[in-house]
Amino acid sequence: ALPARVRIHEVGPRDGLQNEKTAVPTGVKAEFVRRLAAAGLSTVEATSFVHPKWVPQLADAEELFPLVNGLPVRLPVLVPNERGLDRALALGAREVAVFASATESFARANLNRTVDEALAMFEPVVIRAVEAGLKVRGYLSMCFGDPWEGAVPVERTVRVTKALADMGCDELSLGDTIGVATPGHVQALLTALNGAGVPTSRLAVHFHDTYGQALSNTLAALRHGVTTVDASAGGLGGCPYAKSATGNLATEDLVWMLDGLGIETGVDLAALTATSVWMAEQLGRPSPSRTVRALSHK
Ligand code: HMG
Ligand code: MG
Repeated sequence: ALPARVRIHEVGPRDGLQNEKTAVPTGVKAEFVRRLAAAGLSTVEATSFVHPKWVPQLADAEELFPLVNGLPVRLPVLVPNERGLDRALALGAREVAVFASATESFARANLNRTVDEALAMFEPVVIRAVEAGLKVRGYLSMCFGDPWEGAVPVERTVRVTKALADMGCDELSLGDTIGVATPGHVQALLTALNGAGVPTSRLAVHFHDTYGQALSNTLAALRHGVTTVDASAGGLGGCPYAKSATGNLATEDLVWMLDGLGIETGVDLAALTATSVWMAEQLGRPSPSRTVRALSHK
């Protein structure tokens, strides 16, 4: 059985833009968030309060967040540590996300920490955020494969996911950072997480489309009962600290499939596609999304 409704967690302004080589003006980012909200996306991940030298493209978080904060949508932001949480709280953020890794190589590359040191860094962040009444998401990267370590054993991903769940994260987003997962692996991980006491209702999936598997993997997750799916408008994105990571599952490709299945999302596909076409013009290259290309070549 498939769910009647799916919540799309739009990551375009954050995951989509964090890897852009040339600086995107803050006003363009704000317009991007506004247009995504207007297209019916109820959750738009706005930016990251990370070290500006690590992710220069999002160094304008302080300028951007106030420009979008009044919008009637959920606006989660990434915070790696207490310094990031302080910055987000100072601007009135209501929702934050920490981001762990299932593998040591990526924890080192992305956070300059071991897996356990990173978890220790997140603990006070999650505790303080929950105390402040914020919603807290925990991302897990490299849940299926890692560019340095190869295939990632399910037990390894389960251990780190469980640690974030026990810490108090409301939602756990399972990241296939480099897009190597296939549906059987997705099914196996979800089943193992349930077996470890993490219910499907707390899980979201976050697929990158490197090998063209993102939609198949999403369908496997929906069949398992997952109802929160991360996607990036126009298929923008990639992680600067993961070799071979390409764009996320394109939100348009996801909405095309969900519309076809009769699954409600609240998203207006025409308005969303127009937004991605506009954003592609700003970035000076066409969107990689098949659905954006099909719908805009008429
Ligand atoms: P570090 O160099 O170990 O930092 O970086 P530190 O804790 O040693 O601090 C060094 C200096 O940085 C200090 O300043 C801190 O105040 C400052 P100093 O005292 O020397 O003057 N600092 C900060 N400044 C501003 N904001 C902050 C902050 N924190 C420290 N938040 C750190 C550690 C975690 C900060 C760094 O590694 C970092 O910022 N990493 C972020 C990497 C990132 O954003 N990656 C992309 C997001 S993850 C992703 O894309 C995957 C995902 O999409 C899911 C998937 O696909 O798998 C979510
Ligand atoms: Mg990602």
